[in-house]
This record gives sequence, structure tokens and C-alpha cells, in this order.
Amino acid sequence: MMKVSVDQIVDEGGGIRSFYFRPEDRSRFPPTSPGAHTLLRVTKGMMRQYSLCAAPGDRRYRLAIRLDPAGRGGSRFMHESARVGDVFYLSYPQPDFPLEPDRPSYSFFAGGVGITPILSFLYALQGQACRIRLCYFVRAGDAVPFEQEVRALCPQVEIFNSALNGRANFEGLLRGSQGDAIYCCGSARFVAGVQEAADALGTAAIQVESFVSGVKAGHLGEPFVVDLPRSRHILHVPSDRSMLDVLLEDGVDIDYACEAGVCRSCIVDVIEGEIIHRDQCLTEEERRTVMTPCVSRGRGRIVINSL
Ligand code: FES
Repeated sequence: MMKVSVDQIVDEGGGIRSFYFRPEDRSRFPPTSPGAHTLLRVTKGMMRQYSLCAAPGDRRYRLAIRLDPAGRGGSRFMHESARVGDVFYLSYPQPDFPLEPDRPSYSFFAGGVGITPILSFLYALQGQACRIRLCYFVRAGDAVPFEQEVRALCPQVEIFNSALNGRANFEGLLRGSQGDAIYCCGSARFVAGVQEAADALGTAAIQVESFVSGVKAGHLGEPFVVDLPRSRHILHVPSDRSMLDVLLEDGVDIDYACEAGVCRSCIVDVIEGEIIHRDQCLTEEERRTVMTPCVSRGRGRIVINSL
């Protein structure tokens, strides 16, 4: 992890603030690539993953954080308690949502704060002779976050506000993007909506922001039981909750960050039972003995050794 301090905080509208960090333990940050992420250690045991979206030439790291009042407190802490000069820790950048270079045309679908990795793409494509389409969806009543910056980078941006434009017609929009390299980032619901429309159209694979879980809210899978022999707890994971949720509610001390099976923070050892793996970070070898409870589930009953 790199020791950093908050250099500047900027209100971007729509409940989003940009936090600019400068290094404390080195003269400059490692370079980043478009779509890269970093893990921010918000407080002890609380890690969160964010896109890096500073403009080229700015040697600071910028993380855009939307206040989520219903979240587990990471965004609330940053919005309510973080001040200029405060010290935090950031991981080295992770290039897990890369931009395919040299395509003749790109289409970007961004929902709310999902615009942040797209900003880094737009900066990377500045001055290149490619066609860029940006469909940017904001919540009803929200100011358009980053509006000036987005319009400067992509004057042809199509902005959709559900209060003005009604339900998004992803299929109709995707018809105009056939043949483009298509990237999508936003909430799980937003990403699922775009993906469903792409599937219905038979659109070639779209690239989805990987820290957004593709699992639909509501039904995450069959209920199962988690046995923690070390602490003598037996927990029931219902169909609409993740195992990580249930562990945290039980007071289990477990690290987590991306909540999407990407960052490896929440890995636990499994000594018995069948695992339904949904992560994007474990090797086949690892999958025999460990799992990521943020997205993966058990079948029937599983026994965890490490908690
Ligand atoms: S929290 Fe990142 S893999 Fe589980």
C-alpha cells in the first residue's frame, strides 16, 4: 500500500465528490492506465475499490466517491469525515478494466458514478481519430455529475435523465453502436439492463466494469448454511443476501473491498462442502480450497476454517 494524503476535495454534483490524493512516502505515484482501479483503505478493515480518473498531466490520483447513505459506511466516512491533509493508504493501481486500443469506434454506456472509468477512457482517446459515442445516464433530479468535464471531453455526449427521458431504451441505443467496442459501467442493475439488451440484439461481447457485480439484486442464489467451527457459529445465508453480508452482520472480522469477486480481499478457506464460484480472481487450483464470500455461494452446507 502507498501512504497518501488528501490534497483536494471537489463536489462534482449528484452526491459525488472527487478526492485528490498526493503521495506521502514517495515523490510521485506509479503511472496508471485507462480503466485502472485502486483500493482505498478507508478505516481499519474497510477497503473500497475505486476507479482512477485524474486528467493526464495531473500527478495526483483522483477517486470519485458517491455518497451511499444505505451503504456500509465507506462513502459516508469519506464524505463526512475525510478532510484535506488526512492520511490514507492506497493500493498500487490495478489495470482490470482495460481499454482496447486502436479501434475505429467506441461506445460507452455510463450510469451515474460509472462515468469515472469512462472519463479515463475519454482522456486516453483524446486526439485520436476514432468515433466516440457516450450514453450517460443520471438519476432523476440529480445534477449531471462531471457535466463540464464530460462535455469538454465528448461534446456529442447523449445525457439521459430518467425524470425527463423515462425508462432507458438500451436496445434502441445499442442498435446504433453495432460494430463499436462497447464498454459499460454503472450499478449492477444498470449493467444487467445493458447486457440483457445486448444479448437480445446478439451484440458481440460488451466490456463491463468488473467491480460492479453482474448478479441481479433480489435473487442471488439458493439459500445455504455456513458452519464456522472455530467460532462455533452456524449462519444461514438466504437467497437474497451474500455470504459476506451475513458474516459481517454476525460480527465476523473479515476484510473486503470490491464486493464483486475481483480484489481477493475477502478470501476464506473452505474445508468441506460444495462451492459455487462466481469470482473473477481465483485460479482453478485455488478454487478447490478457498472462496470469495462477497459473490460466491455454497450448496447446502459449507464449512469455513479460517474465521
Ligand atoms: S471483496 Fe473483493 S473479492 Fe470479495
